[in-house]
Amino acid sequence: MATYQEFIQQNEDRDGVRFSWNVWPSSRLEATKMVVPLACLFTPLKERPDLPPVQYEPVLCSRPTCKAVLNPLCQVDYRAKLWACNFCYQRNQFPPAYAGISDVNQPAELMPQFSTIEYIVQHGPQTPLIFLYVVDTCLEEEDLQALKESLQMSLSLLPPNALVGLITFGRMVQVHELSCDGISKSYVFRGTKDLSGKQIQEMLGLTKPAAPVQQGRPAQPQDHSISSRFLQPVHKIDMNLTDLLCELQRDPWPVLQGKRPLRSTGIALSIAVGLLEGTFPNTGARIMLFTGGPPTQGPGMVVGDELKTPIRSWHDIEKDNARYLKKATKYYDALANRSAVNGHCIDIYAFALDQTGLLEMKCCSNLTGGHIVMGDSFNTSLFKQTYQRVFTKDYNGEFRMAFGGELEVKTSRELKISGAIGPCVSLNAKGPCVSENEMGLGGTSQWKICGINPFTTLGMYFEVVNQHNAPVPQGGRGAIQFITQYQHSSTQKRIRVTTIARNWADAQSQIQHIEAAFDQEAAAVLMARLGVFRAESEEGPDVLRWLDRQLIRLCQKFGQFHKDDPNSFRLSESFSLYPQFMFHLRRSPFLQVFNNSPDESSYYRHHFVRQDLTQSLIMMQPILYSYSFYGPPEPVLLDSSSILPDRILLMDTFFQLVIYHGETIAQWRKAGYQEMAEYENFKQLLQAPLDDAQEILQTRFPMPRYVDTEHGGSQARFVLSKVNPSQTHNNLYAWGQETGAPILTDDVSLQVFMDHLKKLAVSSAS
Ligand SMILES: *[C@@H]1O[C@H](CO)[C@@H](O)[C@H](O)[C@H]1NC(C)=O
Ligand SMILES: *[C@@H]1O[C@H](CO)[C@@H](O)[C@H](O)[C@H]1NC(C)=O
Ligand SMILES: *[C@@H]1O[C@H](CO)[C@@H](O)[C@H](O)[C@H]1NC(C)=O
Ligand SMILES: *[C@@H]1O[C@H](CO)[C@@H](O)[C@H](O)[C@H]1NC(C)=O
Ligand SMILES: [Zn+2]
Repeated sequence: MATYQEFIQQNEDRDGVRFSWNVWPSSRLEATKMVVPLACLFTPLKERPDLPPVQYEPVLCSRPTCKAVLNPLCQVDYRAKLWACNFCYQRNQFPPAYAGISDVNQPAELMPQFSTIEYIVQHGPQTPLIFLYVVDTCLEEEDLQALKESLQMSLSLLPPNALVGLITFGRMVQVHELSCDGISKSYVFRGTKDLSGKQIQEMLGLTKPAAPVQQGRPAQPQDHSISSRFLQPVHKIDMNLTDLLCELQRDPWPVLQGKRPLRSTGIALSIAVGLLEGTFPNTGARIMLFTGGPPTQGPGMVVGDELKTPIRSWHDIEKDNARYLKKATKYYDALANRSAVNGHCIDIYAFALDQTGLLEMKCCSNLTGGHIVMGDSFNTSLFKQTYQRVFTKDYNGEFRMAFGGELEVKTSRELKISGAIGPCVSLNAKGPCVSENEMGLGGTSQWKICGINPFTTLGMYFEVVNQHNAPVPQGGRGAIQFITQYQHSSTQKRIRVTTIARNWADAQSQIQHIEAAFDQEAAAVLMARLGVFRAESEEGPDVLRWLDRQLIRLCQKFGQFHKDDPNSFRLSESFSLYPQFMFHLRRSPFLQVFNNSPDESSYYRHHFVRQDLTQSLIMMQPILYSYSFYGPPEPVLLDSSSILPDRILLMDTFFQLVIYHGETIAQWRKAGYQEMAEYENFKQLLQAPLDDAQEILQTRFPMPRYVDTEHGGSQARFVLSKVNPSQTHNNLYAWGQETGAPILTDDVSLQVFMDHLKKLAVSSAS
């Protein structure tokens, strides 16, 4: 019998799911008492090198309101060639092509190891992928130069038949024609006047043959001719486009003393969306925005051009003193919405020392599954390498990007779907399995994810609806089916189907089964996503109070204790780490905004709600490794007591990789011992964390910020702000200098937090 740890890992590897509960409470009432909802992290396109797709269409249940896909949980009568749907119990005839099946000759989708299966279904003509570059020319010379080089490089990484286009913007917006025999021509738009999609298409001369585009079908090939002036196959024009990029100049309009450059980001994005909307609806496309500052004019402006008026801070927002915030957010929301309807995704690369308006613009990416990458300058490896990584390929040599994803969820009768949290929009599909209790984006059983990759992970929340007095449901198992249709980067249409089942248990007589099957890592991340989702619309302190209440209730429900005796409080192994995750989450930049700018908070949250479990846990509770002469490198507690003079620490927060040299190590390094032959081992010690950091830098998306610091260094705050302040100034004198670095903070320590939690959990008053 495998342990639950192994069971959980196998299920994640095979199906890309991590459930908060792996045995399900069989009644609605009992389920609500579990505090943590029945939910899962789901990675729809999780990479499966061992799963070759099959080349036929899925078989669907014939009941019109069901249409679940044939799967290993269905009962099959091989002699009568019938199968019973495990969701609605409908008996279905197999299609004629299945005439030869028997219990020794099963189609793949009936075999238990194919609980996840992928179908290649080729409908309609193949359409190329589209990449539309939208480039800010108000950059500093150094940034523009570096950006141009990266863009030129990226042309060689695109699929040769991909269509590319270029829009540049500063005070004006230019749409570049790409088929003009070496003479560069462009259409110029004012950056202050909003235009409808239709007006844009008319002005660009894109409206001629009004061949009706059928809903849900890719554009027909003849459409290509009208758009070809702006979107050309990369293999045809890569030389010309390289030249065009090379000649790109900074915005020629003079910027007066004390002013910001006039930047028409809003109109530039609107034109990009309008251009694709008219020519390639329902086709895989990326709009890639590269910007180095905030929009300062026209619709979507975030700050005025007077430098003496700074861009809004959290303080301004709290005081309702952010003049452009609501209007700009609404503007970008509507653009994002239009883009999502057409299946196009929007990436934002924002590189500048100050804020660029990500807070207002983030919906463009979060509603369309686009990337957001933020940093100080385009002339950094953080930008250059991250951008290259967008075009990495998988084990089959295919791009790790898919488009136009639509995720549908089906549940067995005892369950309903409450909502999703991730880079998706609702498709408003009502139906029998949609719950009235919304969590995240609810009221639907289908969501659209325009840009999706093998790591895109959604939080999916369910509700148990089985009544309290009803017996444990038929068959003893509940089932969920995830159906993901998408356009593969090879432009094939594919359908991935994942069908999972878990046992029901009666929460009164079998609570220990339910407890033992609790996945505290998944639960922590799923609760954190709910917290972050709330934080977008509620005040920070309210969200923290909500999380605290949930934690206390969970401890009351699953802790073992004598009333009013905090010392007696115990949590079983499957819950033991959960309070600590919540402790670090409370202190994380996802919920604490005041040390960050609004753009930074948006950036952190954007990434938190789309990463898989492993990456999410690193974000919540950073990993700390220690390097010393006393043994091999080892993970150590994220605690100030881990900071010692003769240690080097490597901290991974997902967004930053920090190497911190303890006081003694730093002194030796300054004295140059590593250069002396007799201290070869010191040289090796210094090198070890660098090598490990390299490994993380190689694969992470986006590339983390790399910080090399030491005891007393100005960047040491990166480490000090993350570790548990177990030695604050209050108990500083109790600790000798050898035992670690004191943290000057009023933040409570994990110990104080836990003591408090235990008191509240055992209190008979609560
Ligand atoms: C980019 O940065 C590198 C290293 O800091 C520098 O050598 C180079 O000149 C910069 N590029 C430009 C275009 O300024
Ligand atoms: C590219 O530029 C050359 C001249 O520089 C021109 O002859 C050719 O037609 C151009 N190709 C396209 C597709 O615009
Ligand atoms: C987004 O688009 C949908 C469907 O087109 C529409 O119903 C909804 O009102 C739009 N929302 C916004 C904020 O524009
Ligand atoms: C996406 O952005 C919108 C608009 O800013 C916000 O309401 C929503 O909560 C965001 N979603 C996520 C998952 O961050
Ligand atoms: Zn059915």
